[in-house]
Amino acid sequence: LRVVALISGSGSNLQALMDEAANGGAFEIVAVISNRADAFGLERARRTGIPAEVLDHRDFAGREPYEAELLALIDRYAPGLVILAGFMRILTPSFVEHYAGRMLNIHPSLLPKFRGLQTHQRALDAEEREHGASVHFVTPELDGGPVVIQARLDIHPGEDAATLAQRVLAQEHVIYPRAVGWFAQGRLRLGEDGRPWLDGAP
Ligand code: GRF
Repeated sequence: LRVVALISGSGSNLQALMDEAANGGAFEIVAVISNRADAFGLERARRTGIPAEVLDHRDFAGREPYEAELLALIDRYAPGLVILAGFMRILTPSFVEHYAGRMLNIHPSLLPKFRGLQTHQRALDAEEREHGASVHFVTPELDGGPVVIQARLDIHPGEDAATLAQRVLAQEHVIYPRAVGWFAQGRLRLGEDGRPWLDGAP
């Protein structure tokens, strides 16, 4: 399966996915696109020999012209799946609908809890006992699409947002490749009822 990844930063999830692809995963990352030229994930892609493209939203007059170009760039690579891996731009409904059922995101919380930013601090402030990460299909509602897989962990007494973020991130690196692998194997899809459909036990 051809996969295009959108990133904005470090790209550690991208790395986990590239590693999985290199280790016999049923998918191939065919391009990495960042809205920021300084995203370290671009360097990770280049090292692996994967085309690394920059499309800076600040070079465009608004969200729609930016997305028109982004969509054209993505589709040039003819992906069967688009993955958001720390891509820090909100996408419009028409963009999201173009990739309906073939775009995944990873979010650092146990959705539907803590959509949006600063999830780790918010989980601590809310005195949650558990926290984690979720992979979900992308729908127009921000961080609101159907959840495919979650990793959960206990919050340690007295821990801070930085250590919690680190522990969650390590789990992200496990669940994202797993979900993309399922999709690539045809075991995972978005059903017509809007629910994820997973063939066989995870
Ligand atoms: C991760 O925490 C992910 O859940 C969130 O953005 C972060 C990306 O990290 N959407 P990285 O760029 O993959 O290291």
